Amino acid sequence: MQISEKIKNIRVSGTIKMAELARKMQAEGHDIIELSEGEPDFDTPEFIIESAFDAARNGQTRYTSVPGTIELRKAISKKFYNDNKVEYHVDDIIVGTGAKQLIFNALLATINPGNEVIIPAPYWVSYPDMVKIADGIPVIVPCDSLNGFKITPEKLHKAITNDTRWLLLNSPGNPSGAVYSSEELMALADVLRDHKKVSIMCDDIYEAITFGNNQFYTLVEVAPDLHDRVLTVNGVSKSHAMTGWRIGFAGGPNDLISAMSKIQGQSTTNASSVGQAAALAALEGSQENLGVWNLAYVRRMRLVRDRLSAVPGLALRDPQGAFYHFIKCSDLFGKTTPQGDQLTSDNALCLYLLQYAHVALVAGTEFGCPGYFRLCFAKSDKELIKACDSISEAIKLLT
Ligand SMILES: Cc1ncc(COP(=O)(O)O)c(C=O)c1O
Repeated sequence: MQISEKIKNIRVSGTIKMAELARKMQAEGHDIIELSEGEPDFDTPEFIIESAFDAARNGQTRYTSVPGTIELRKAISKKFYNDNKVEYHVDDIIVGTGAKQLIFNALLATINPGNEVIIPAPYWVSYPDMVKIADGIPVIVPCDSLNGFKITPEKLHKAITNDTRWLLLNSPGNPSGAVYSSEELMALADVLRDHKKVSIMCDDIYEAITFGNNQFYTLVEVAPDLHDRVLTVNGVSKSHAMTGWRIGFAGGPNDLISAMSKIQGQSTTNASSVGQAAALAALEGSQENLGVWNLAYVRRMRLVRDRLSAVPGLALRDPQGAFYHFIKCSDLFGKTTPQGDQLTSDNALCLYLLQYAHVALVAGTEFGCPGYFRLCFAKSDKELIKACDSISEAIKLLT
């Protein structure tokens, strides 16, 4: 079958690639600890599951309106207002099959060939390829680890050209764990005010997961005057342990939401009806789990940090949010494995750790930041301890 030139140039997501490799080794009988995929290990709370059963039994098994049920969009509007102090009318909200579909549709709806999209690196693996599928040009801006991997106003200013269409902002960040403070967002807003043609996509999917004093803010909250230039993307995948339900949502200017709805109407129609009912329960029900899970994430983040920061050649900084450690490993480059292979990249190290420590991780190169790897700590303490011990043992074998 002929495959289009465009799709030939698209990478398979690095996270999915690693998870597939881990599954293959598991099928061959190896006991692999999977720390490459980014999802909570908690089960979806029972009351959410029950609401999906009820919805299915009550006949909510048919198409819904393309941008989502009115009930869910009302609940999302309330969520934006209560949690973020941002006003989005129900007509300015769309529900999709995960935040991923909404980001994709927003790019598809707005990019003309040659338009540029600024992506601070390290970035979520999917952004650059989504931009390419939409015929845009990803403009990768490497961000300094000393600045917590956040884009600075100076770097943003330099990256903007006449062709810039979007800035993609992700806070808390995957894989960096960076959480932009209100001051940092305001400083970026100052630059953006001078460039009215640039829209801003705020990917807030990890909003619920922040540590210590790092409070979450979204751009429109601190710069309300930018309201009509921002798409605020969020969902229940990470916050409510609902990755498999595939429900994301976004609020934005009506013309953009309508265009995204048009694409959705010609592709997947609505997000799953029972999934929407479950998301409604998630947003309207008790949020108690979020606090409990956050405490578990903090404990696990520290557990990994304490164990791995003692390993020569690895350097860790505490993330401010999300559930990843982004670990510097470039000091190990040049070392030799017991099999006599020289490690020359983060990808080679991750492959070595998969084969010899039986831990699946993702190389920083996949996130546009070579010299690092990402470890997801949304796993049980037992698995994390075993993984850290195995990583440490495998690294000790390098000469
Ligand atoms: C930064 C970021 N944005 C968006 C998504 C996609 O979220 P969803 O599962 O709701 O499609 C992910 C998932 O890993 C992510 O890490």
